[in-house]
Amino acid sequence: MTTTDPTIVSHSSAPRVAFPPAFHWGTATAAYQIEGAADDGRTPSIWDVFSHTPGKVVNGDNGDIAVDHYHRFREDVRMMADLGLTSYRFSLSWSRIQPTGRGPAVERGLDFYRALVDALLEHGISPVATLYHWDLPQELEQAGGWPVRETAYRFAEYAAHAARALGDRVPVWTTLNEPWCSAFLGYGSGVHAPGRTDPADALKAAHHLNLGHGLAVGALRELLPASAQLAVSLNLHMVRPLTDSAEDLEAARRIEAVGNRIWTGPMFNGGYPADLKADTASFVDWDELVRPGDEAEIGRPIDLLGLNYYNPTIVSAPQKDSEAPEPARNDGHGNSPHSPWPGSEDVVFHLANEDVTAMNWSIDASGLSDSLIGMHHDFGLPLMVTENGAAFEDVVGPDGTVDDPERIRYLRLHLAAVADAIAAGVDVRGYYLWSLMDNFEWAYGYSKRFGIVHVDFETQRRTPKSSAHWYTEVIRRGGLD
Ligand code: FCB
Repeated sequence: MTTTDPTIVSHSSAPRVAFPPAFHWGTATAAYQIEGAADDGRTPSIWDVFSHTPGKVVNGDNGDIAVDHYHRFREDVRMMADLGLTSYRFSLSWSRIQPTGRGPAVERGLDFYRALVDALLEHGISPVATLYHWDLPQELEQAGGWPVRETAYRFAEYAAHAARALGDRVPVWTTLNEPWCSAFLGYGSGVHAPGRTDPADALKAAHHLNLGHGLAVGALRELLPASAQLAVSLNLHMVRPLTDSAEDLEAARRIEAVGNRIWTGPMFNGGYPADLKADTASFVDWDELVRPGDEAEIGRPIDLLGLNYYNPTIVSAPQKDSEAPEPARNDGHGNSPHSPWPGSEDVVFHLANEDVTAMNWSIDASGLSDSLIGMHHDFGLPLMVTENGAAFEDVVGPDGTVDDPERIRYLRLHLAAVADAIAAGVDVRGYYLWSLMDNFEWAYGYSKRFGIVHVDFETQRRTPKSSAHWYTEVIRRGGLD
């Protein structure tokens, strides 16, 4: 199915594929990773509590200050404009807007986002707002978190507050960012906030995230102008079996079910897949969990589908020999003994190749074109790449510049893969590079840098890396050389 030949891409000198003229050239960020100002009118989210719990985040890092975007957003927006970005995907902090997770909204929090969006619009940068990028108000976690149904209703109420305040100026909304991570890293392996490790809770969280998405879509449709476009950002795993043995194909089926179809089933195909329910029946009673009408609610039509892609997911059946491979870093276990794959705990994850980023994630852009082509075929919706990018060990040169050729190579390969998908007939509307600037990389704290802009975390000085200058040139030309 792959149409990508990276070697041709990197050596070609003529423009290969013109991206559509209206293509959005963006970057992406998330509230907790950049804002800081943790107590300026907002209450703790699950990430505040988690990152302040010893042993949860590398070096004990937290997002109290992060890259201080809350205070520096005007200069950050000017920097985006200087880079030539035409769009920007950011997330709203729920506990800044609705600190207790219920009841009225707080104007102070909304004002921050109004000012941010106005600054973007003044610079001709089209905003894409993500409602939930993992930072549940801690009060709602104390009331049970995503494993309880009530949280889905709270999410829709918060979505309505955001829509009322920003609906006149934000044209594209995504409800959830990577709900797989919220459910299965947050409540399964516990390597993300809130750090719980119960497979039944992880599956319940998945359903309530889905339900929250559907309810929020309903609320947004009522409040937003008819022109508003609604989306969700999924990290659909590009699952590939290690071999074509029946056992490895079965491993791939299982991971696709609990990694991907648990979202796309009810969102686009009418309900949860039977095989998923069978694989996980020992943990949850699906008939009890999913109430009549839930799947229809989750399946409310949306306008765009966002894909976050970093690397493919290579799986096999349990290895029979004693030389079992080291688990791949992208299997969601982190250092946790608990699995984020309920019902499929013994599936083995492999690196796609040894050409890896600083996250030990294999570089394989064919997974991006294959994903886009597959999604286009399966769901028929316009697509956006809502995240793609790479961490490397960046070095600040003696003259203060940061030369990051490995990141440029990664981005070039992946943009070429997007171009390949477009050439194959896929309607891709935009590309949001992760990330605008170095930031708090969740359980890795500040130890992993994904930005095209370097941030000195002591001084908060921003320095565009050579990848930023390269991206500016790509945007100026409207595509790759
Ligand atoms: C994604 C997250 C994003 C960032 C990248 C590297 O899973 O959505 O916040 O951490 O990974």
